[in-house]
Amino acid sequence: MALFSPLTLRGVTLRNRIAVSPMCQYSAEDGRANDWHFAHLSARALGGAGLVLTEATAVEARGRISPEDLGLWKDAHIAPLARINRFLRDQGAVPGVQLAHAGRKASTYRPWAAERGTVPPAAGGWRSVGPSEAAFPGLSAPKALDEGELPGIIQAFADAATRAVAAGFQVIELHAAHGYLLHSFLSPLTNTRTDRYGGPFENRVRLLLEVTEAVRARLPEELPLFVRLSATDWVADGWQVEDSVALARLLKERGVDLIDCSSGGAVPGVTIPVGPGYQVPLAARVRREAGVATGAVGMITEPEHAEAIVRCGEADLVLLGRELLRDPFWPHRAAAALGAAPFWPPQYERAAF
Ligand SMILES: Cc1cc2nc3c(=O)[nH]c(=O)nc-3n(C[C@H](O)[C@H](O)[C@H](O)COP(=O)(O)O)c2cc1C
Repeated sequence: MALFSPLTLRGVTLRNRIAVSPMCQYSAEDGRANDWHFAHLSARALGGAGLVLTEATAVEARGRISPEDLGLWKDAHIAPLARINRFLRDQGAVPGVQLAHAGRKASTYRPWAAERGTVPPAAGGWRSVGPSEAAFPGLSAPKALDEGELPGIIQAFADAATRAVAAGFQVIELHAAHGYLLHSFLSPLTNTRTDRYGGPFENRVRLLLEVTEAVRARLPEELPLFVRLSATDWVADGWQVEDSVALARLLKERGVDLIDCSSGGAVPGVTIPVGPGYQVPLAARVRREAGVATGAVGMITEPEHAEAIVRCGEADLVLLGRELLRDPFWPHRAAAALGAAPFWPPQYERAAF
């Protein structure tokens, strides 16, 4: 059973190939995890996922997507996450975190708020930052980061990585997808800079490579580092899957262990061929051509489908988002459906019969 075979990356072994895709809960105060995060993440560890990735967690306060995002920008954020991670590990799951900076898509209302768009400073919002001054349509214009400010961003990622390790996370993922800061530097649709960080491919990837090096240097050798990419912008003159393959090679050389292949988000109004497993070919291509482990994500809901993705070598890990919101116990149900050995927590063993 490929889906239920363990996956070892550096010194960390996942009990199976199923990961909880990072999903913002928009439920923190001042970046601090609380009982919601404990219950949400714990349920998915009990549910059998091998890797439980905590949501986009901001490396600086202005890097939050919404004011209610989790953070790791100060030491006070460590303890509540450490409590959660102890429980996840006790349940046999590996806790991971997605370190993020929202860039020009920061300071937005959470999805269920009555208002839309940018939260103004009077309501607890802030001025966002980006590679250039162009706004994401519908949001306020960011301040363009000047070159002298970029070392501070790199430092913020590195310091957050150190705090993540202190909190007991065993996998660190850098969020370089969905139009947030690192992706917005990669994509020619959003990066119109003329300095060393804009223009040709080599310049647009510079910030992510520097962040990767700084973060890798803070991680113990045995902890794996993932990068989530938007493997394509789905726009003719945007970031292409060929760029992702070339970037994946550079990331691998810098100690990245897995590329988590998502897509889109740089600009709105793009036609995306959404359907079951629509991003799997991106993970398959990056894996084949860059020779690096990949994660596949996006509308994967059927156990047989997830099994085939791993068995056919399209990806090493399958990440599920909304399906694991609907049913945290999907991994146990998938094991039953595929005839893999049951592994319910002993307290729930009767569920197997
Ligand atoms: C409520 C919600 C929050 C999300 N938050 C994040 C996030 O913090 N970071 C991220 O990379 N993707 C985020 N995503 C995208 C998911 O990780 C996933 O890539 C996407 O939902 C597609 O997978 P699915 O079809 O299995 O849900 C979010 C998705 C949902 C539904």
